[in-house]
Amino acid sequence: MKLLDICIGKTQELDINGQSVKTAYIKESISGPVRVNALGIEGNEVAVHTDAIYAFTQENYPYWADRLKVDQAQWSSGVFAENLLISGLQERELRVGDIVAIGKNVQLSVSGPRIPCFKLCWRLRQPDTFISEFALSGKSGVYFNVEKTGQIRSGDTVKIIHKAKNSIGIVELAAIAFGKKDIDVQELQRILDLPGLSEISALFLRNKLYAIVDQEQLRRNRWQGWRTMKVVSITNETPSIKSFVLRAADNKPLASYRAGQFLTVNLSPHIHGSLIRIWSLSNYQDDPDHYRLSIKKEPKGLGSGVMHDQIAVGSMLEVQAPLGRFVLDRGSFKPVLLIAGGIGITPLLAMLKAHLVKGKKAPPIYFIHCCQNRLNQPFREELDQLGDDFDIPILHVYDQPSADDVLGRDYQVSGYLSIQHIDSLLDGCHIIHGGKKVYMPLADIDVYMCGPPVFQEKVYDALIVAGASASRVFQESFQVAISDKHADHVGNADVVFSRSGKSVKWMAEDNLSLLELAESVGLSPPNACRMGVCQSCSAIIKEGSIYYDVTLTHPPEGNRALLCSAKPNSNYVVIDL
Ligand code: FES
Repeated sequence: MKLLDICIGKTQELDINGQSVKTAYIKESISGPVRVNALGIEGNEVAVHTDAIYAFTQENYPYWADRLKVDQAQWSSGVFAENLLISGLQERELRVGDIVAIGKNVQLSVSGPRIPCFKLCWRLRQPDTFISEFALSGKSGVYFNVEKTGQIRSGDTVKIIHKAKNSIGIVELAAIAFGKKDIDVQELQRILDLPGLSEISALFLRNKLYAIVDQEQLRRNRWQGWRTMKVVSITNETPSIKSFVLRAADNKPLASYRAGQFLTVNLSPHIHGSLIRIWSLSNYQDDPDHYRLSIKKEPKGLGSGVMHDQIAVGSMLEVQAPLGRFVLDRGSFKPVLLIAGGIGITPLLAMLKAHLVKGKKAPPIYFIHCCQNRLNQPFREELDQLGDDFDIPILHVYDQPSADDVLGRDYQVSGYLSIQHIDSLLDGCHIIHGGKKVYMPLADIDVYMCGPPVFQEKVYDALIVAGASASRVFQESFQVAISDKHADHVGNADVVFSRSGKSVKWMAEDNLSLLELAESVGLSPPNACRMGVCQSCSAIIKEGSIYYDVTLTHPPEGNRALLCSAKPNSNYVVIDL
């Protein structure tokens, strides 16, 4: 193998697809001699990509020229942003940790495959979909760390002098990073532990790891229907908020959950009638040994009233396995901003804890809590402790500070949250990428919000105006998506509620759900959300078929249906009710 060319780049602002982008993508060819130091080739600058050296195989040039129908003569070396152009380099043989010698002194170790970005597409005039094709091609080049410094020049011999054991090939690594190869958590962890692994590969793999872990959270130890939990402790968080810690009455493992999810609680046994409520889980453990619900007593809240006034330590509660779509995306590499209004803090506190489980290399997280005052602020000590232990920027906003509350000590903002407060909290927000700071604007931050609807609306509008990405602002909402399945459904159906012996005609133009239909004949099936989320209205369909005009995140199994969201799909339906 031979070193054919050496290229270096200078950081500059370029207009890429109408956006000003700081980049060192454009390379100029130098033949050397040039010194290679621990950070890479002297004189070469980097903007975002932080691996020491990027090398490309000369034989890839004709391949890509042919594939992209470009006259190769139009391309000078460096067009792929490579620092080194080498002839005879076989990417499929390279594994993370292999050592390559160049010239007399320089030794480089393989750190990973090229993980391309939109700048490659811009340079080669290709659509963004080209990123994946390039990354998976086995002809995308290789990143190196510097093991031994020294001088190199064009014409130097290149030799592989050490093959790493128990490592992974860079082509296989690219396939894993881009989701084209399945992998389990143990293998991912093993690869992440490989010494010298490229930070950009590690970033992709770490996100993948948490995406898998979180998917598993949705399945592990789940149960169907109601399960008895014992209240083992109750804590007064504020004069109107209590936390209830629940453990399984049968002492068997609890279902895992994703931070942000809720529990559906059946309080019917505690009153004379039907009462089902949903409350967010306010704590997080990867392997939960308990659930914590934190509930505010609302002036006219029947469910919260029962929890506050009737439920004591030792009480039994019927609950369903955790559910919900408002969940933290731990597979994201972006910084996270959590904005809570009042008791809306509950799912966000769980998210904060779940994020911290990712460890020191996790992106930064910011927390804002807006509430009345210190007396009415739940979890303040818990938040302070987390803030101290993990160095988390936290902003407390009080709209009714009391005489005892001290500005600067108890809270930082008096009144209401504004975008200026958010901006100053996020000032300097960055991730560490390859040992360097990469500043992240609001558009590159994942925002999660939970609070009263008016609060969420105002904050959301302000965030969007300030440049937040609408697709990365997530809000708690018990709305379900309307199904886009268009099908011809029946115009009417005879519906029989078999246990009660009642029957009724369902007419499409009335647009009633089966739950509403049951209620129209005097039945009172259990229900809480009435939106296909909490599962409390699940019932067995004994004959006939149904359809949903919403998209359910957790469709019930077998022959069960969520009556609140179901309508007949056959002319005769029998429901076990
Ligand atoms: S009432 Fe919640 S899913 Fe039907």
